[in-house]
Amino acid sequence: MLEGVESGIPATADNEKIYGGVATAERPGGTQPKLCIRHVSKSFKSVNGSAYVLEDINLEIREGEFVCIVGPSGCGKTTLLNIVAGLEKADSGEVWSNGHKVNGAGTDRVVIFQEAALFPWLNVVKNVEFGLKLKGINAKQRRETAIQYLKMVHLSKFQKAHIHELSGGMKQRVAIARALAMNPEMLLMDEPFSALDAQTRWILHFELQNIWLKTKKTIMFVTHNIREAVCLADRIVMLSTTPGRVKKEFQIELPRPRDDNDINVAEYSTKIMKELKSEITKVMQCEMDADSCVECDIKCTSVIPEKIDMGGGI
Ligand SMILES: Nc1ncnc2c1ncn2[C@@H]1O[C@H](COP(=O)(O)OP(=O)(O)OP(=O)(O)O)[C@@H](O)[C@H]1O
Ligand SMILES: [Mg+2]
Repeated sequence: MLEGVESGIPATADNEKIYGGVATAERPGGTQPKLCIRHVSKSFKSVNGSAYVLEDINLEIREGEFVCIVGPSGCGKTTLLNIVAGLEKADSGEVWSNGHKVNGAGTDRVVIFQEAALFPWLNVVKNVEFGLKLKGINAKQRRETAIQYLKMVHLSKFQKAHIHELSGGMKQRVAIARALAMNPEMLLMDEPFSALDAQTRWILHFELQNIWLKTKKTIMFVTHNIREAVCLADRIVMLSTTPGRVKKEFQIELPRPRDDNDINVAEYSTKIMKELKSEITKVMQCEMDADSCVECDIKCTSVIPEKIDMGGGI
């Protein structure tokens, strides 16, 4: 059995709302979603008391689907990804990965964070091999696998390099190679390119699309950047502001590989950004202290600039 998961099919009582009463195993074509998030809610205690961050999240991701999660800052995107990863526990609801109930972290779901969490004392190839060693794969096989994935991210020439010798973009590519080497069922990516400059991000968008086209991995990708989401996703899921709920979904039907600068990508981004504006306004109203405007004499509460840079995120 996989680590952090419980075997079985989701109970039929809850299938009514999500599957229209059809049990997962009995759905047309016998298809079962790769990921199934059902009625997930989560609250955190803070100095201001306990507050819901996520409320009744229901979401399915098909095998091989690339889904981007967007939403205003603080709406619970990272919390949701951590719950799927098994790093955080939901207050209620369930997550099913590949037909198994998630109870904790597992090698079937590998997370790639904003900062590539590489081991500085190991060189590039040894970083990629690390998880394979834990899995008990022999030295020859893990070197072959590591090189295969380093080639996929165009870093085989740097296999002996130390981590401190790499640029930010190269580090993220090593992190992607390391994740792929584990052959996970799903990649969970939390703003992996947000710390990178625009050109590096542009290159990595192409690389990730090519990797996805080659491997057909199921990907859940969190981003603030709407244009990035349109460039990468089959489907964009927008969360509303606190508590985060699924507000709207957008199917992106553009040929691949897509370019951030493509006119169609820009058009989709504009449409989605319009939807998000009202959510951003709500966040600003909640977060900003209206009285401060009296002091500084600038009326900024609930003001959203007309022209928001789509590439710069939300
Ligand atoms: N461990 C925690 N304890 C208390 N509150 C938390 C904790 N983790 C997250 N939160 C709160 O939960 C809310 C959602 O946080 P989360 O990081 O999931 O949002 P996000 O959508 O990923 O935000 P961003 O887009 O800025 O990364 C925030 O208000 C945050 O302060
Ligand atoms: Mg986050």
